[in-house]
Amino acid sequence: MGSGLSLRGTDYGQRIWFFAHFFRNFANGMRQRILFICLGNICRSPAAEGIFQHLVDERGLADQFMIDSAAIGPWHIGDLPDPRMRRCGARHGYHFNSRARQFSSADFDHFDLIIGMDQENLRAIRAKARSKEDEQKIRLMADYLRHHPNHPTIPDPYYGSDRDFELVIELLEDACEGLLKDIC
Ligand code: 4NP
Repeated sequence: MGSGLSLRGTDYGQRIWFFAHFFRNFANGMRQRILFICLGNICRSPAAEGIFQHLVDERGLADQFMIDSAAIGPWHIGDLPDPRMRRCGARHGYHFNSRARQFSSADFDHFDLIIGMDQENLRAIRAKARSKEDEQKIRLMADYLRHHPNHPTIPDPYYGSDRDFELVIELLEDACEGLLKDIC
């Protein structure tokens, strides 16, 4: 039989690899697994999670994605997003209600894309990568911006004003659209 799926002639290592990947993807329903990362997981990454979730819900694509967010640091574990981020999100029709958790190396096993908000995030994420395969999953959120070419990062609003939180929403809406376009 000339089927491209035939495993005849392959060695046992390759067969085990094939079935491990097949069953892992099957168990995940072939969903794209995306993890957004920022320093505290109370401002930018929960907003990215909420905005991207809203976008895929709106487009009827929710069953194709698993979306989560996490922090580089441990300071806010268990917390809801910052009240300023929640209020700002609510003004734009979003409901940010995830609980902060800390990123770990094990996340590389559970996600296909790990997306940081700034260069400091990327350095901390890379420091947890265990292999080339892990490193290949790392992305910068600003690389998905299509309408804000002068923003190399999603800037940290924690010590900023209401306007800084507004900018985060504006940038994340643009980047989430760009991300969805890139992967669909
Ligand atoms: P985030 O913002 O990384 O966008 O969640 C921050 C949240 C908390 C702190 C810094 C940034 N902090 O220093 O506690």
